[in-house]
Amino acid sequence: MRFGIRTLDELSLSGKTVLCRVDINQPVDRASGTLKSINRIRACVPTVRELSDKGARVVLMAHQGSDIEYKNYYTTKPHAAVLTELLGREVKWIDDVCGPAAREAIASLKDGEILLLDNVRFVAEEQTLFEQKLRLTHEQQAKTLLVEKLAPLADCYVCDAFAAAHRDQPSLCGFEQVLPSAMGRLFEKEFCTVSQVMEEPVRPCVFVLGGAKISDAFLMMQTVLGRGVADHIVTGGLVGNIFLTALGEQIGQGSVDFILKSNYGEYIDRAKELYAAYGDKIVLPKDLSWVENGERKEALLGSVPAEIGAIDIGHETVKLYQELILNAGTVFVNGPMGVFEQPESEYGTKAVWEAIANTKGHSVLGGGDSITATEKFGLTDKMGYICTGGGALIRFLTGEELPVVRALRHGSQIPEKGE
Ligand code: 3PG
Repeated sequence: MRFGIRTLDELSLSGKTVLCRVDINQPVDRASGTLKSINRIRACVPTVRELSDKGARVVLMAHQGSDIEYKNYYTTKPHAAVLTELLGREVKWIDDVCGPAAREAIASLKDGEILLLDNVRFVAEEQTLFEQKLRLTHEQQAKTLLVEKLAPLADCYVCDAFAAAHRDQPSLCGFEQVLPSAMGRLFEKEFCTVSQVMEEPVRPCVFVLGGAKISDAFLMMQTVLGRGVADHIVTGGLVGNIFLTALGEQIGQGSVDFILKSNYGEYIDRAKELYAAYGDKIVLPKDLSWVENGERKEALLGSVPAEIGAIDIGHETVKLYQELILNAGTVFVNGPMGVFEQPESEYGTKAVWEAIANTKGHSVLGGGDSITATEKFGLTDKMGYICTGGGALIRFLTGEELPVVRALRHGSQIPEKGE
């Protein structure tokens, strides 16, 4: 046991059917049906390989979201092909989650074989149990379709999805009520590493917050500011643009239209409230960048043209952010500063990421886009700790007990058959 959770060393696996929840949620290129990054798939390989090597019949459960918040879930089929390649052994895939076809495929697995089910969020109970919208207790989650149909086919449950440990959903928190449970190797590494860092964060503690997962960002800001965890929050991407709009800054109609079109209008008021309470800690962009006729342009706030759509922070903002980051004791990073995928708008994220790589403090970086940016800029080996979790890491840092950690502690007390 580590931190009250069973590890793989404490489960007997040979000949056992193991339900293993992984987080292999990656950015997807829908047009081509390919994955834009495979870092999370690679990260779960040690656990899957160990389960298979030890003779378990491995049933993988996973979700795949979309690039913009929680709409348009996507199949896990491409992930099975990538896993097959990385493991050098076949990972079967089935276009079912817990219906008769999936159950039959699970029942026919042989020792060491691996099966990936389709996206668990295709099952309504999984995706409607989302954040505050509809809450079920873990006991109630154990009575959902997914758990009732799959748990009887399994001997134990393993969770390797630290990146989704903040989600209170049946595939993550329901099985631990009825099956002996353990954390996988990735979960063990991530949870134990960040637990140790959190015990003594060195100040000043700077959060670098950007990207497009706005609900996570606002929830996290509220908590880390409210509890005094964050000394500074430097903002970019949509997060920064929402704050600037809330403060009445001219950021270009294209930027505002994007906020409204993405249904983030409500966050403008939340940003006003947060800024009123913690304006001394929330650091906002001083200049913005956009692309005109294929060329990067920049302007200080106050001179931003009325019609543009901002896609990056500018040089003045970068200078300010670099100073805070280089002098920080601890830097937690979640979300890029702009559209770093395009050459004209990569500057802000690249320059801020270089500062994170060079900070004297300890850096902890998480989230799919943040990791993709780190890889793109060749900084992977220079970061303090790279966690596959984005929202989960941030939620963990607020000091909350993550739902999956709580569930795993419970499932770790359930004895294995014959124990
Ligand atoms: C993530 O990308 O942070 C995890 O995979 C969790 O995904 P979610 O935010 O869609 O729940």
